[in-house]
Order: sequence, then C-alpha cells, then structure tokens
Amino acid sequence: MKIIMLGAPGAGKGTQAQMIADKYKVPHISTGDIFRANIKNGTELGMEAKKYMDQGLLVPDELTVKILLDRVAKEDCKDGYVLDGFPRTIPQAEVLDKALAERGESIDYAVDVDVPDENIVKRMSGRRACLSCGATFHLEHVPPKEEGICDRCGKELVLRDDDKEETVLNRLKVYHDQTQPLIQFYKNKGVMQAVDGTKSMQEVFDAIVAILEK
Ligand code: AP5
Ligand code: MG
Repeated sequence: MKIIMLGAPGAGKGTQAQMIADKYKVPHISTGDIFRANIKNGTELGMEAKKYMDQGLLVPDELTVKILLDRVAKEDCKDGYVLDGFPRTIPQAEVLDKALAERGESIDYAVDVDVPDENIVKRMSGRRACLSCGATFHLEHVPPKEEGICDRCGKELVLRDDDKEETVLNRLKVYHDQTQPLIQFYKNKGVMQAVDGTKSMQEVFDAIVAILEK
C-alpha cells in the first residue's frame, strides 16, 4: 500500500500519516522530518535545507528528490509506505512516478486532508514537535502527558522555527502555488481522495480508513 498525504501546512498530514503507519505497519516517511533531523544534527544537508525552511520556501527539488528516492528504496518499504510532505511540486511527482514505474509500481492512494487557510494559523501556534522522533502534539488538542516532553521518546518538545505566523502565511502561499496543483495531477491518475480535515483527528482517521478499506 503506497499512500501520499496531501494538504496545506498544518492540515494534519503528519498526524494522520503516523496513525496510518501504526495501523497498517508501514513506514511513515516525512521529508520535513528528515530535513529537521538533519538540521538538528548539523549536517550539510540540514544547513542547506534550513535556509529555505525558515522562510517558508520549498527546499529545491534536486536536494529533496534524491533523499526520498533513497529512502523508499530501503528494505522496510517493500510492502508500502505513507509519504507525508512529498511530493510537493509537479516535477517531484513526475520523478516519483517514473522511479516507481521502472519497478512496475505505482501510487495506490493520494489523500488530501482538506482544511481552509483560516483554521491553519491557529492550529500551528499550538503545535509542539519532537525533533528526535517526529511525533506531533498540540497544546489544546493533543497535549503531551508531561509538559514539554515527548510521550513517545522522552525528548524535548519544541515550537518549530517555521511555525511563526508570518512564516506560516508564506508556507500557505507556497502550498497554493506549487503543491495544490498535485490534486489535479493525482485526479488524472484516478487515485485522488479527499477528507474533511476540520473534523476531529479520530473522525479524519476513520474517513481515511474507510477509503483504504473500500
Ligand atoms: P513539513 O514538515 O512537511 O511541513 P508542512 O507541510 O508545512 O506541514 P506540517 O508538518 O506543518 O503540518 P502537517 O500537515 O503535518 O500537520 P500536523 O499533523 O503536524 O515541511 C516543512 C518544510 O520542509 C517545508 O516548508 C519545506 O521548506 C521543506 N520540505 C519538506 N518536504 C519538502 C519537499 N517535498 N519539497 C521541498 N521542500 C520540502 O498537524 C498540525 C497541528 O494540528 C498539530 O499540532 C496537530 O496536533 C494538530 N492537529 C492535527 N489534526 C488535527 C485535527 N483534526 N483537529 C485539531 N488539531 C489537529
Ligand atoms: Mg508534518
């Protein structure tokens, strides 16, 4: 099962991707998480990616595509995966498609988690992220058991550098310009599905499971 999560920044792609990964025992692959782990570890890739991420811009395709293709070629991806935050541009989607086609494979589902822009900014200011394991919390909706500490791995939770309001507004613009066209791209391939991302996390998840198990 190969699934792509689409949706605006803060729509809940990461939250739902993790729930899908847990239920169906497939890896959750987030290019944003990979970049943040690299930033935290001070790698060259991390330093390069940070320049773009801090402004709410996309990291150039040349950097992003290789990382993703290397990741999905790993052994744990042989029975499928959930991609969260990739592809984000038409060229990225085309490269992924081509790489899969060479192995006789294709994407099974693209799921758009649909949340209007008005709801996004509010959601982001409450988010707290674990830069070690990628888990996501929310001060109101999903508070961690212990304040500031990740339930899953025990490391510190932080407000992401790119969750400042002005950067979020930039990310939304970039989303509409560069990523939203992917909805039509995957419609044309007959794999596009949408869920209402303004519902509770469990309701959104139930809607996704209904799609995957139809
Ligand atoms: P990335 O990390 O992918 O960020 P994003 O797309 O902006 O999305 P977010 O992670 O902010 O939101 P999400 O949809 O995962 O929502 P979440 O589940 O956390 O990318 C960051 C940056 O990296 C990009 O800007 C770019 O620079 C770069 N990058 C990454 N991939 C790239 C690529 N392929 N190409 C180029 N550049 C790339 O939920 C948000 C909050 O809401 C959480 O607090 C959560 O608890 C809460 N929440 C979730 N669902 C609900 C719900 N139903 N009700 C109430 N609260 C909810
Ligand atoms: Mg995310």
